Amino acid sequence: MRTPLVVGNWKMNGSISANKALLAGLTEQWQGQSAELAVCPPAAYLNQAQQLLAGSTIALGAQDASAQASGAYTGEHSAAMLQEFGCRFAIIGHSERREYHAETDQAVAEKCKALLAAGLVPIVCVGETLAQRESNETLDVIKRQVSAVTDFVGSEALAGVVIAYEPVWAIGTGLTATPEQAQEVHAFIRQQLGSLGDETRILYGGSVKADNAEKLFGMADIDGALVGGASLKVDDFIAIGNAA
Ligand code: G3H
Repeated sequence: MRTPLVVGNWKMNGSISANKALLAGLTEQWQGQSAELAVCPPAAYLNQAQQLLAGSTIALGAQDASAQASGAYTGEHSAAMLQEFGCRFAIIGHSERREYHAETDQAVAEKCKALLAAGLVPIVCVGETLAQRESNETLDVIKRQVSAVTDFVGSEALAGVVIAYEPVWAIGTGLTATPEQAQEVHAFIRQQLGSLGDETRILYGGSVKADNAEKLFGMADIDGALVGGASLKVDDFIAIGNAA
């Protein structure tokens, strides 16, 4: 059985006071019976979040990680550093990083390997653009992005990896993939992962809200969500967690 997982990606949002209020609300309201809940603040706030989450069942994650262990990599954070700040998860290959930071499939695969070696759980994001969907390239794109990682880390590592399917056209736009559209891609990813894929959690991301989460989570291969905007509001994020 795969435990549902709901992860909040705060992106470049937050402040010391806003984080305090958000995390106080989440820790107070999250009962955490059936699903796991995690938040991924900007790296600058990991220390604050680690302290505010102490004693809570809400896990902490980072929004990126370096493939390197240490050295002259200005601005980067290694997996070991993230672990020291209590991170259990790290998002890698988010479409915003692929687009604005030219992150390649190979770079994502290398980050994945570094995180696994340090004992963190990589959340590997994949997803097609609107142009790719409209030209029927969705499954080819997904196949390329997933196999870049699985070929590099080896299929035996898959149980320790989370995959997030995020159609780029659904991120922050209010457009959500229908549960059926998402399920089609999730089933395709699971099939691509082979027998060990049964244990791999595959999250959906892209305008997940309190009012569409339940239907998405009702699909056989959707094991939770990677939530952007709605993860910044206590009631919405808790409602999504409760729907999982
Ligand atoms: O990582 C989260 C995704 O990019 C989804 O963002 O929920 O604001 O559409 P969104």
